[in-house]
Amino acid sequence: MATKQTLSERADALEEQQMKALGDRIVGKSLLYYLSDGEQSLGEGFGVGTGRQMLMGEDPRLPAMPEKPNLIDFFRLRFAPSQQHLLQSANLAQKNGLPEKMVLACLLHDIAVTGFIRSDHGYWGAQLIEPYVDEEVSWAIRMHQCMRFFPDESVNYAYPENYTRMFGADYQVEPYIAAEYERAKNHKWYMSGRMICVNDLYSFDHNIVIELGQFEDVIGRHFKQPEEGLGNDNTPASHMWRTLRRPCNAL
Ligand SMILES: [Fe+2]
Ligand SMILES: [Fe+2]
Repeated sequence: MATKQTLSERADALEEQQMKALGDRIVGKSLLYYLSDGEQSLGEGFGVGTGRQMLMGEDPRLPAMPEKPNLIDFFRLRFAPSQQHLLQSANLAQKNGLPEKMVLACLLHDIAVTGFIRSDHGYWGAQLIEPYVDEEVSWAIRMHQCMRFFPDESVNYAYPENYTRMFGADYQVEPYIAAEYERAKNHKWYMSGRMICVNDLYSFDHNIVIELGQFEDVIGRHFKQPEEGLGNDNTPASHMWRTLRRPCNAL
């Protein structure tokens, strides 16, 4: 009689499968992963003296990517499942009648949180997409980092309630955020950054599922997908896409 695997048995089996796929290779984790655990380490470092080789190239534990990956491939094969926040924010922007360019900005506004690095996410996110979008889109994404902390009554934007819960009632922004906001305030694209905050769903609805396909046309028209594939092209952001594709290359 076939016995059903428990959840933990399935997890163990998956781990074993992944270990097999890796062979005996050492996964070279970056300092950043260890710093996130409060450690200053490179783990097994460079495997000197172990007689083992290090992982280079595609990571067999992660979903295989096509030769020439596009933005949608990264959404599907790399970004965290929590991408509903992005999809629902873009959906709201669409419902509110924002121009397509701004719908794209809302779709990508937290791309760093969902897909790369959380800390200073507005800056990382803007940098990741800068070569492929209108300058206004990346500017707005960069600046939503600071703007979201400051209310704007003219568009009914208040300090997010959940920030009080998440960061504490006495949380004060860092000086660089306050200074950046001062610069953003007088910029010609101020309202574009602000529109990201207004359509940013701080508590999104778990009962609604928005599909990425809804924005395929917007992406097609406003994200300049490189023919060679993201990471294979030659822009100041290509290395970031490559790192996302193969996050544990030893060097
Ligand atoms: Fe954000
Ligand atoms: Fe957000």
